[in-house]
Amino acid sequence: MKERVLSGMRPTGALHLGHYHGALKNWVRLQSSMDCYFFVADWHALTTHYESREVIEKNVYEMVIDWLAAGLDPDQCTLFLQSRIPEHAELFTLLAMGTPLGWLERVPTYKDQQEKLKDKDLSTYGFLGYPLLQAADILIYKAKYVPVGEDQASHVELTREAARRFNHLYGREVNFEDKLALTFAKLLPEEVKRFEKSRKKFQETGDLKSLDGATGFVNNDPRLEVSDRERLLGYFKGTGSSILPEPQVLLTQASKLPGLDGAKMSKSYNNAIAIREDRATLESKVRKMPTDPARIKRDDPGKPERCTVWQFHQIYSNETTQAWVQDGCTSARIGCLDCKQPIIEAILHEQQPMLERAQRYIQEPRLVRDIIDAGTERARITARETMNDVRQAMGLNY
Ligand code: TRP
Ligand code: SF4
Repeated sequence: MKERVLSGMRPTGALHLGHYHGALKNWVRLQSSMDCYFFVADWHALTTHYESREVIEKNVYEMVIDWLAAGLDPDQCTLFLQSRIPEHAELFTLLAMGTPLGWLERVPTYKDQQEKLKDKDLSTYGFLGYPLLQAADILIYKAKYVPVGEDQASHVELTREAARRFNHLYGREVNFEDKLALTFAKLLPEEVKRFEKSRKKFQETGDLKSLDGATGFVNNDPRLEVSDRERLLGYFKGTGSSILPEPQVLLTQASKLPGLDGAKMSKSYNNAIAIREDRATLESKVRKMPTDPARIKRDDPGKPERCTVWQFHQIYSNETTQAWVQDGCTSARIGCLDCKQPIIEAILHEQQPMLERAQRYIQEPRLVRDIIDAGTERARITARETMNDVRQAMGLNY
């Protein structure tokens, strides 16, 4: 059984090479070894674009084409659309009941984004709930790993807290005390006594040796069934049985590829190269890139360390080309346009297979919709299963 990985992206614009080097390449790498779920987070996009939803509509399928172009393979991973699975909203609502406001107000992205996106009114209920909706996305698939960048780590942490709280509040089976007594009846009275003593020690002091001891005993005792084991360990740890497992963040290294101006690559900074940028635009964008400010005239020697083009060479060029840049720049033997040419070629080369893969989806948009339909149906089965457990745990199956 492969372990489950889940991640999503907001469809707010064409994906660029920063997304590719920072996230997508990693998703593609994970898809063969893990049970990967990747989804279009269109509701999350609405939290910031509720007044310009046409942006989202335009980008949902375009983004999926970018994913497929980058190499995501629908036979290997599950690709789906958040808003087609209303169970996400149901779990979000149920989690919301017991989530303290302070947890959400303290998430760093809440204030940061409000500061950054000043032109938008983000003092909304939906925006405050953003990380809790994300928690629902993750928990509904019982994902083990969530590959995201550093900026999203606090959202995964909140997800863990929400899961812990849910399990604590509702993780107990109906008639837990009676069932526990039946399980204890399978053991000898002195074993029960020892178990209770050890539990007390663990809960009061956090002594891990006691936990290890109890886990070993419970897992190896042939008198116990699986449900007895769950029950005993949940009782020991004080967590009940865990209905929603806590996920772990799988930190993706920040993209080493900066934007054209040296700042973080972002569509809103106007410094991005789209994954499927056309050749003429690509060439013109790279040719216009600012270079070492000290190289005013062609004859002025420069220092690659002061130049963003050099950072591109570090990703796109081999050692020979890098040596040529170092030597040519510091001696003024090459001009900046000469220096940029290998970058243009390297990006074109990187794009080539992506453009080829994208071609059939552009010609036949139906294919993209079919991929998302199939993925959504697959995801829905898992989401429904979890919601059945959740409703039962909360006593909602009247
Ligand atoms: N908040 C994420 C981002 O902006 C997108 C997202 C929504 C997500 N739900 C998720 C990522 C669940 C991982 C898991 O990038
Ligand atoms: Fe930058 Fe290359 Fe020009 Fe040097 S030669 S300043 S590295 S673009």
